[in-house]
Amino acid sequence: MHAVVLVGGFGTRLRPLTLATPKPLLPIANLPLLERLMASLARGGVSDAVLSLGFKPEPFLDAFPSNVCAGVRLTYAVEDRPLDTAGAIGFAARQAEIHKHDESFVVANGDVLCDLDISALVKFHKSNGAQATIHLTPVEDPSQYGVVETNPQGKVLRFVEKPSPGETNSRNVNGGTYVFEVSALERMPGVAPLSIERNTFPEMVRDGQLFGYATSDYWIDAGRPESYVRANIDLLQRESIHQVEAVSNSAQIAKSAMVTQSVVGRNCTVGENAQIIRSVLLEGSSVDQDAVVVDSAVMGRIGSFAQVTSCLVGVDGEVRSGAVLRDAKVPDAS
Ligand code: GDD
Ligand code: MG
Repeated sequence: MHAVVLVGGFGTRLRPLTLATPKPLLPIANLPLLERLMASLARGGVSDAVLSLGFKPEPFLDAFPSNVCAGVRLTYAVEDRPLDTAGAIGFAARQAEIHKHDESFVVANGDVLCDLDISALVKFHKSNGAQATIHLTPVEDPSQYGVVETNPQGKVLRFVEKPSPGETNSRNVNGGTYVFEVSALERMPGVAPLSIERNTFPEMVRDGQLFGYATSDYWIDAGRPESYVRANIDLLQRESIHQVEAVSNSAQIAKSAMVTQSVVGRNCTVGENAQIIRSVLLEGSSVDQDAVVVDSAVMGRIGSFAQVTSCLVGVDGEVRSGAVLRDAKVPDAS
């Protein structure tokens, strides 16, 4: 089976991390997010994926030089301007000539990590004769997602992207993994910007063609600062690892430093008495002596005695010694 994986967004919410590394290539517990996503697509029967990009594919070619990721063959569809989600799917699916291979294909948002059994989603899709089926997942605050109302059989009655308060009572949201019949491509010409969430899905709802498959297994969209850090920490807990040091002896962690529920990447340095709590140190970053890093992701450098909470520090970011920062982006990336 073929898949289109949407990776063309700018990763704005994860700046400044994404100024150096595209969002899908950011590591989750030291493996690129895309590799974890591809592994789950492969388990569900996906053999080929087209990465739908709005910019140069070089970082991806460098990351997967053999054009294989987690056993899935990769091709690239590069838009000359952002086509939005449905435009991107239409463009990439045609580029990969998916209609020549399959009747159904999978689409995945490139920033979602989940335990969804994709083959079960495909089976449910086929059993309804639907044109498209969306994976649904329950969340506490649906305001940042596409909210979906269904009937008991799973037929979608309403799809509201990022609803305002009170607009819908449903807590089930679009989980960002879909199965489409090739016939759905007629709705997605792929030549101009078009939103799957705001145009195509509501249109399919009107035609009674859209189904939703709800599961309550693990799910996270790692595309926001707190959820990016959380996705890393969740993975440690789910795999019952206390802390991950990529290649354990390539990171230098002082004996007196304390690293708790955190991921330490390759070639990182953690100084004497530093504390790293529920955080992600990406490859090559450093935390100097007596600094405290909590709930943060760091690519750059944290000076001694600094205290950093809920921050993103980019590759050129430097938090000066003794600084106290909360909810900050360094350098400021807004
Ligand atoms: N190729 C391409 N071109 N990809 C794009 C474009 C584009 O113009 N715009 C966005 N994407 C990609 C992003 O890279 C991402 O993988 C995916 O489309 C979704 O975009 P996000 O920016 O991450 O959207 P979101 O998280 O706010 O909302 C989406 O995901 C939620 C689940 O995580 C929506 O699909 C919601 O309905 C959904 O609930
Ligand atoms: Mg997202």
